Amino acid sequence: MSSVLYDKDAQGIVRLTLNRPEKLNAVDLAMRDELWSAFEAFRDDPDARVLILRGVGDAFSAGADISDFGTAPSYVEARRARHERDLWALLLHLPKPTIAAVHGYALGAGCEMALLCDLRIGSDDARFGLPEVSLGYIPSAGGTQTLPRTVPPGVAMHMILSGDPIDAQEAYRWKLVQRVVPRDQLDSAADDWARSLAARLPLALRYAKEAVLRGLDLPLADGLALESRLARLGT
Ligand code: COA
Repeated sequence: MSSVLYDKDAQGIVRLTLNRPEKLNAVDLAMRDELWSAFEAFRDDPDARVLILRGVGDAFSAGADISDFGTAPSYVEARRARHERDLWALLLHLPKPTIAAVHGYALGAGCEMALLCDLRIGSDDARFGLPEVSLGYIPSAGGTQTLPRTVPPGVAMHMILSGDPIDAQEAYRWKLVQRVVPRDQLDSAADDWARSLAARLPLALRYAKEAVLRGLDLPLADGLALESRLARLGT
């Protein structure tokens, strides 16, 4: 049984579903490999326009599979594997819009995967948290960087140091999610967003996304120059 399901509809909306419900969609090594292939397939398919990342069962994802911890062949090899296959950078830099549709727990890498998407919609039972520090680690799927770029730095610091999860309403207050809907409306609300984005010009979406993402790391003048360059490319 695949731990990631890939489904593309006639409008080019790809639903990528984390499918390890018995383990609350914890990300193990097999799921990482399947996510890598799925992100590449979405990126390389000209008919695939918008990605929705979701989970089956009781949670979006309870994070990295803790039973894998300490099983990497060696620190050096683990670092090399991460460098060669930077799954999280691949997700962040997909040149098309991505939407996380989050219900239940989004912890650790689950929360970080959502943060690497462009837009986030949560159901009213969603809970977001980065418990790594309480386990003796630090977040390593980008969370120390993406969270303080998404919510106020003090809120991010509190979440990262305490490990305490926040609920959907608090996530909405800090704009970690752009919308909260009842659980039974999550899929249709994400679909509606995806359909409206799929109707936009792909090249405009691509350059706008690139301008925002790259611009966040630049001084204003450089960001404006980047915007000008991308605007010329888009016409
Ligand atoms: N890695 C591996 N397995 C996990 C997991 C994870 N991150 N999160 C949950 N699971 C497994 C549980 O071991 C359990 O499996 P089992 O039935 O074979 O024992 C199953 O998923 C259901 O989890 P359970 O703990 O029974 O559900 P719950 O509703 O009581 O609690 C959580 C939910 C999320 C609070 C709890 O599972 C948890 O704390 N998980 C670890 C979260 C975490 O630390 N993630 C970050 C890692 S950096």
